[in-house]
This record gives sequence, C-alpha cells and structure tokens, in this order.
Amino acid sequence: MIIGNIVVEVAYIVAAVCFILSLMWMSHPSTARRSVLAGELGMLLAIVGTLLLTEVVDYPMIAAALLLGAAIGAPLAYLMPMTAIPQRTAISHALGALAVGLIGVVEMVKLAGHGEGLSFESGALSFEMMLGFLTCTASVLAFAKLQELVTTRPMVFKGQQLVNLGVFVAAIGCGVALALNPSSGPLLIAFIVLAAVFGVLLVAPIGGADMPTVIALLNAYAGLAASAMGFALGNKLLIITGALDGASGFILAVIMCKAMNRSFANVMFGGFGQVVAATGGGEAKPIRSASQEDAALMLENATSVVIVPGYGMAVAQAQHKVSELYQALTAKGVDVRFAIHPVAGRMPGHMNVLLAEANIPYEKLVEMDEINGDLGTTDVALIIGANDVVNPAARDDPKSAIAGMPIIEADKARTVMVIKRSMNPGFAGIDNELYYLDKTHMLFGDAKEFVSGMVKELSGGSGLH
Ligand code: TAP
Repeated sequence: MIIGNIVVEVAYIVAAVCFILSLMWMSHPSTARRSVLAGELGMLLAIVGTLLLTEVVDYPMIAAALLLGAAIGAPLAYLMPMTAIPQRTAISHALGALAVGLIGVVEMVKLAGHGEGLSFESGALSFEMMLGFLTCTASVLAFAKLQELVTTRPMVFKGQQLVNLGVFVAAIGCGVALALNPSSGPLLIAFIVLAAVFGVLLVAPIGGADMPTVIALLNAYAGLAASAMGFALGNKLLIITGALDGASGFILAVIMCKAMNRSFANVMFGGFGQVVAATGGGEAKPIRSASQEDAALMLENATSVVIVPGYGMAVAQAQHKVSELYQALTAKGVDVRFAIHPVAGRMPGHMNVLLAEANIPYEKLVEMDEINGDLGTTDVALIIGANDVVNPAARDDPKSAIAGMPIIEADKARTVMVIKRSMNPGFAGIDNELYYLDKTHMLFGDAKEFVSGMVKELSGGSGLH
C-alpha cells in the first residue's frame, strides 16, 4: 500500500513536470510537437496514477468511460477543421466543467452523508461547483454562437446588467448557504440552477467576434474549478494542473485583449459587434481590380513584398499555394516576408500554425510591431484573406468599432493588393477604407485559386520575363 502510494506520488510529480514542459515547449513551433507529446505523456501518467489509487477504482465503469470518451474524442479531433478549433475548445471546456461540477455534487452529498457542516472541503466544493456549472453552460452557448447555431450578435435586453448581478449574488448566497449546510437538497438544486443560468447570462451579451477571448477566459475558470476540486479531494496533481490551466487561460485572454486594444470589461460588457455598418447600401465608391496576370507582374517586378495573411487564407486552405508563391518569388530574387498580426484568423497563432505547416521558414514570419516600421519602404503589401487586421479605421477613426486595435500598416506600402472574394466586411462587420485607396488593387477570388493562378503566371506560362 505504501509502495503503491509512493508510485502514485511519483507518477503525479512526473505528470506535473510533463505539463509544465508541455506549456513551455508550446511557445515555439520548432518545439510544439514535443510539447504535445509531453502533454500526452503527462495525461497518461495522471490517468494511470489515479487508477492505482485503489479506493476510487471501479475498473468496468472506468473502461466503459474511457471507451466512450475515446469514441467521441477521436473523431472530434480528426474531423473538426482547423477553422473550428475555437468551438471545439468550447465544447471540451463545457464537458470538462460539467465533470468538475458533477464530481462536486457527489462529494458534497458524501460530506452531507457524514453529517458535516461548514468545513474547508464544503467551501472549496461550493466554489468549484459554481465555476464548474457556470463554465459548462457558458461554454455551450459560446460553442453555439461560434457554430452559428444561435445568433452571433450580442443578446441584450433592458436592465440586463442588473439581472446578471442579481443572479450572481443569489448564486453566491446559495453557495455560501450550501457550504454551511451541505445536507440541504433544495439549496443544492437552487445553487446548480443559479450557477448554470449565470453562465448563460454571462456569455449572452458578448458578440461572436469576442468569443475566442471569452473561451480563453472560460478555460481559466475551468482550470480554477479543477484546482479547487484538487483542494477538496486532496489531489495535488489536480491543484497543479488546474492552476496551470487557469493561469494560461488568463494570460491568453490578456494577450488577446491587448492585441485588440480592449479591456476585459469592454470584452465582457461592451456588446462588441452589436452595431454593424450597413454594407452594400449608400453610394458605391470606386475601386480598382486587377487580374492574376497583372498581380503576378507587379509582384515579380517588386524588390520587397510583405504578405499579410488572415482568416480568408485559413478558410481557403491556401497556405500551401502561398508557400509556392513564396518560393517562386524568392527564386526570382524578391525579398518576401510575412506580417503576423496576433489576432489574425480565429485563434492565437492561427497564421503561424498554417504557414509552418506549409514549410515557410520561421524567420520569414515577422511580428506586427517589428514589420510595421518596414512597410513604408515595402514595394508591395499582398493581403491574403485578411481584413480587420489591416483596417486603417482602427488607427484613424476613434468612432470605429475596432478603434485602437493595433493593425498591420499595409496602407503604408507603395502598392497594396488584396485577395478576397467580394467587398464583404471581415469579422468586425465594418467597411475597410484600404480597399478604396488609389494604390490598392483588389484581386477578387478564392485565395487558393487566385494564388495558384499567380504561381502559374510566375512559373513562365504567361510570357512574363
Ligand atoms: P477578417 O477580418 O475576419 O476578414 C477575413 C476576410 O477573409 C473577409 O473579409 C473575407 O472576405 C475573406 N475571405 C473569407 N473566405 C475567403 C476565401 N475563401 N478566399 C479569400 N478570402 C476569403 O480576418 P482577419 O483580418 O484575420 O481578422 C481577424 C478578426 O477576428 C479580427 O476582427 C479579430 O479581432 C477577430 N478575433 C480574432 C481572434 C484570434 S485569437 N485570432 C480572437 C478574437 C477575435 P470575402 O468574404 O469578401 O472573401
């Protein structure tokens, strides 16, 4: 028994080290694969270690749960497209948080069975149940918004913040009362319902554009809930991993808010995305479009090109064609670099992942702050499926919905080219003055097809030199 406990303790310590290394290695593409392996090894050790704790083992039930989880998880991982990662993460949080909440209920009922009143455990369990159930319903709504199963616009009504506050205070009150008196069934049910309703109210007024940030926050809540459960169950590994999860979720949410120049309060209560500029109405402003051949010629004649990828490149899965374009231009002596905006696409590091997958050398990926200084002396800024992250309104129009968000200053380049399918706005739903500049050429079409056409032109078929 003692040896068994030592084995479990060692397995838990090694698992915790694996999780810490995994987070560290995740910060660079060259070590990201190792990071995933370390995380998987840590999780395996955590599961094996927990199975060795004989007092909690019911093998047939655990085997059934493992099989069921794997049967749902494996197809989810394989079938979900990269662009749907935020909603996949949301649904994982919802299930994890539900598990945390339900374990909290079981443990609270056990405490009640022992006839216990207020204790450290009952307090920790109340805390983790609150976070668990609210994170569960909030994540389900975040999933539904991102998957467009419900409206992505903020759901607002009069007196909403007052109602939210009322439900929050009532939930806290119930939680405190339950911690004092764990054997009260009605209190337990009221507490679960209030926490779950608060989760829905928390996410309802937040627009779809802010959902990825909210998901990072929910990640933090789920981590905190797991950590609190670790305290209640006396499980050190849960405390450590919950804290890691909670801290990394908060850090990620802060990074995203900073990249959009928004405060937490603005994301949570700002109703971003509520007012959408009408498109298509009003008088049509003149634009200039160009063909694949013209675009290829301009690129070939440039000395320096900065490619700005965005969400459209991800949707079109154009990264491999973009890599071919990079190679064709580099072979012709053109200096090609990529400008990476921290919130381009729909998840942190979205562009880095896609471009690394297409074997673009990592040193050619330049962060926004670094590349902005060079754009004034760049011949061509080629924007591929990006919109909000190059919208000068963020810098120039204090009334814009994205005012203050740092942008890649593509408008400073000598020539601007924009690949997109139409004049439709990006995620923030606002028009982009960049498209109407004299130096801008709109390249209408699907990103993959358009880039592919340019590569063909560059590789000689067209009579270009
Ligand atoms: P967006 O502003 O969303 O613009 C993407 C553009 O891609 C659209 O204008 C669309 O125009 C075009 N597009 C779509 N499919 C295409 C295809 N198949 N081929 C060519 N073009 C296509 O993207 P962005 O500039 O990357 O900005 C990201 C937005 O998401 C920002 O508002 C950001 O704040 C928000 N956001 C991101 C994150 C993270 S972590 N990345 C988190 C929170 C919020 P057409 O329809 O005309 O083709």
